[in-house]
Amino acid sequence: MKHYDSDIDVLLETFDFKGKSVVDIGCGDGTKAKLLVEKGATVVGVEPNLESWKIEEYESEGFKILSGGAEKLELESDSADIVIFMYSLHHVPTESMGTAIQEAYRVLKSTGILYIAEPIAEGSYQEVSEPFIDETPIRANAIAAIEKFAKPKFKFCNEFKYQVSEYFNDFGEFVDEMMRYSLDRYTLEDVNNQRVRDRFEQTQSDNRYQLDQPVKCWVFHNSD
Ligand SMILES: C[S@@+](CC[C@H](N)C(=O)[O-])C[C@H]1O[C@@H](n2cnc3c(N)ncnc32)[C@H](O)[C@@H]1O
Repeated sequence: MKHYDSDIDVLLETFDFKGKSVVDIGCGDGTKAKLLVEKGATVVGVEPNLESWKIEEYESEGFKILSGGAEKLELESDSADIVIFMYSLHHVPTESMGTAIQEAYRVLKSTGILYIAEPIAEGSYQEVSEPFIDETPIRANAIAAIEKFAKPKFKFCNEFKYQVSEYFNDFGEFVDEMMRYSLDRYTLEDVNNQRVRDRFEQTQSDNRYQLDQPVKCWVFHNSD
């Protein structure tokens, strides 16, 4: 499986973002969206948990934010070149995943592209995180929704896998990062305990810790 330093590198290798109108669904703190703006895109980020990300100035030139979920996009039909779900489809309630995919399809131009990246519930990231958050069932639901709702809509689908690694200097750094992504689904005590620390220690490589995340991507389109 090909290895990348970050998910954004995969996106940049896949598309030329110059002049593109992009919707980043479940954009989190907006870091990735802003990197796409730097590459010449105009990006609308959609995010239902804005207050959890504690960003003072979310919007910036070329980057607008829509507060809300993927289930109902306050965006014009036929308006976007690329819609991205980066690690976010499995966060949509399972019963709404089909609606979310339908909404993405609606806002895309006929030449538009739907890009979905989902973390696979395998590898050392999964092993270390599993004691406090096991997303295996919701990730499986996201894959089932892609098969059921996205595949019949588009003419072409390219699928590929890659792996990203995240590096930490110590357990404290890992705990801080996990709490940034908690979205109130687990507590500090759930993460900062011996069971998780023991698993984390197993990932030591040289003088740092390497957590591997395999990822599956789907790129849907209707034209060559
Ligand atoms: C793992 S984070 C990924 C954040 C960002 N895309 C990234 O790659 O760094 C998942 C994001 O999905 C968001 N999310 C949760 N429910 C959602 C929904 N119904 N529609 C869209 N996004 C949702 C979460 O608030 C969170 O910001």
